[in-house]
Amino acid sequence: MGAKIAVYPGSFDPIHNGHLDIIQRCVPLFDEVVVAVLRNDEKRPLFPEAERVEMIESVLAGFPSCRVETFSGLLVDFTRRIGARVVVRGLRAVSDFENEFQMALMNRRLDSRVETLFMMPREDYSYLSSRLLKEVAALGGELTGLAPDLVLERLGARLAAARS
Ligand SMILES: Nc1ncnc2c1ncn2[C@@H]1O[C@H](COP(=O)(O)OP(=O)(O)OP(=O)(O)O)[C@@H](O)[C@H]1O
Ligand SMILES: [Mg+2]
Repeated sequence: MGAKIAVYPGSFDPIHNGHLDIIQRCVPLFDEVVVAVLRNDEKRPLFPEAERVEMIESVLAGFPSCRVETFSGLLVDFTRRIGARVVVRGLRAVSDFENEFQMALMNRRLDSRVETLFMMPREDYSYLSSRLLKEVAALGGELTGLAPDLVLERLGARLAAARS
């Protein structure tokens, strides 16, 4: 106990450079950063959970203080279970604010010891989301520099498989 652990939750379907920017900003601030992949099958993810996890593990291979876990159920329960007290969320634009504000206050109500910390990404990534990445990929747009090459390759392969 005593280690400062941050939980960074999301669907990561797939991980992109906006996510990585936030993770890299967390690394010097915490002893451990746990990327928590939500098992949300209702959201019909493009990538199965195992592949989302594997891609994150590959791109975080050079960051020994980062690890990947999956969770379902309440985020505060997961956070408590792994001994963390900080949930990190990225804020891209004002449009993220309302929903994030609601979730942070609900989580505080559910467990007042868990604090939500908001971080701003580099401006270059402030418009980026997994949804947009998948949409542009499906239409054949150029995405170099917005996600790791490994992710862009997998995205191309998935979409090609989906088309055939
Ligand atoms: N470009 C970005 N810059 C900073 N934070 C981001 C960015 N994209 C997502 N995040 C943050 O990452 C966390 C996980 O988000 P999530 O998995 O929903 O990613 P997403 O890109 O928003 O995907 P989707 O389009 O499926 O919602 C959230 O806190 C979200 O605000
Ligand atoms: Mg999102």
